[in-house]
Amino acid sequence: MLQGKNVVLGVCGGIAAYKGVELLRLLVKAGANVHVIMTRGGTEFVTPLTFQTLSGNPVHTELFNLITEQEIGHISLADRADLFIIAPATANVIAKIAAGLADDLLTTTVMATKAPVLLAPAMNVNMYRNPIYKENEAKLRRHGYLFADPVSGYLACGWQGEGKMQEPEMILEAAFAALSQKDLSGATVMVTAGPTREEVDPVRYISNHSSGKMGYAIARAARRRGARVVLVSGPTSLTPPAGVEFVPVESAMQMRENVLQRASGCEVIVKAAAVADYRPRERAGNKLKKQGEGMTIELVKNPDILRELGEAKRPGQLLVGFAAETFDLEANAAIKLEGKNLDMIVANDVSAPGAGFGVDTNIVRLLFRDGAREELPLLTKDEVADLILDRIVALREGSL
Ligand code: CTP
Repeated sequence: MLQGKNVVLGVCGGIAAYKGVELLRLLVKAGANVHVIMTRGGTEFVTPLTFQTLSGNPVHTELFNLITEQEIGHISLADRADLFIIAPATANVIAKIAAGLADDLLTTTVMATKAPVLLAPAMNVNMYRNPIYKENEAKLRRHGYLFADPVSGYLACGWQGEGKMQEPEMILEAAFAALSQKDLSGATVMVTAGPTREEVDPVRYISNHSSGKMGYAIARAARRRGARVVLVSGPTSLTPPAGVEFVPVESAMQMRENVLQRASGCEVIVKAAAVADYRPRERAGNKLKKQGEGMTIELVKNPDILRELGEAKRPGQLLVGFAAETFDLEANAAIKLEGKNLDMIVANDVSAPGAGFGVDTNIVRLLFRDGAREELPLLTKDEVADLILDRIVALREGSL
């Protein structure tokens, strides 16, 4: 999403300026062409040379520069920007922008840009709570400025509280969201992800290789696209995407309970979880001791959550399932699509290289109720997530 995009990164005078360096690195890694503007205060904390070296572009500090004005002056920078980020944004610069002041290169360029502006405030907790600051922030929000809200923590000034600049990864996520079409705003999307764990005894369980990456990618993309997102996840090593309601579960029965409880409030449900089909009939209270040469654990069937959702589906609700197969991909997926009353099924051959569990890529086919089929090439799970959501948006609009 940031590939080839021009991002102007403003860096103000605050100790969090050093985290601006990390943000720059992430933006460049994501493919953005970054132009850095530093306020005089910003240059007191980190040298322009650091930003220049990492961005590969000259760093701008002066409003009028005899050498660069002709070619990349403030208006040109403002015009070229696809996205404007100020990190850290001090109380002072936020006040100046809110007041319409343009007395240095950064504030002048912000005022002249038509690009979305994302501010990552960083300041002392009492400054952050100051009603005048709050008014400035509210005014900017009303005018469409975006905020990567600061977090609570230990502040450089010695205080503990809100005002600590958001982590660079979260600011990057907010940047992706700023550039996304909000075609799912107003919708609640529930996504299930990861494996389930079916306990045998206090130290053992039955599970599968699902990493949760596909489901988390869908939840993240849906959030970027403006949806309210509920992510019901089995155990994974992933960090839940920012801004989603995260519901951690362990077993299929816990997943069922949490999903069914929330289902009626959702316009879209995507079941990417690899739910265990069976669980031990009994969970032993104590660790099982080894006995003899063999062992048998009796399993009982877990309820099929997706089938239950399909039976209770309300008009207008969209239900999307996944089919993890190792043979007869389309035929098996088509049976699940029909049998579970789904609107779309994402079929993947989990034995194909580059597809399935653990990896960052996937190769899927999309099957629809009217018999339409779509075969997608090898893509990253993030790309697959956006394509799935594109089809969901089209189904909601009735254009598919
Ligand atoms: N699913 C579910 N509850 C279950 C089993 C599966 O909700 N107890 C959902 C999965 O989240 C997925 C879809 O059903 O969206 C298909 O899961 P999959 O494991 O591919 O198929 P199953 O229906 O379990 O059939 P089989 O294991 O026989 O292939």
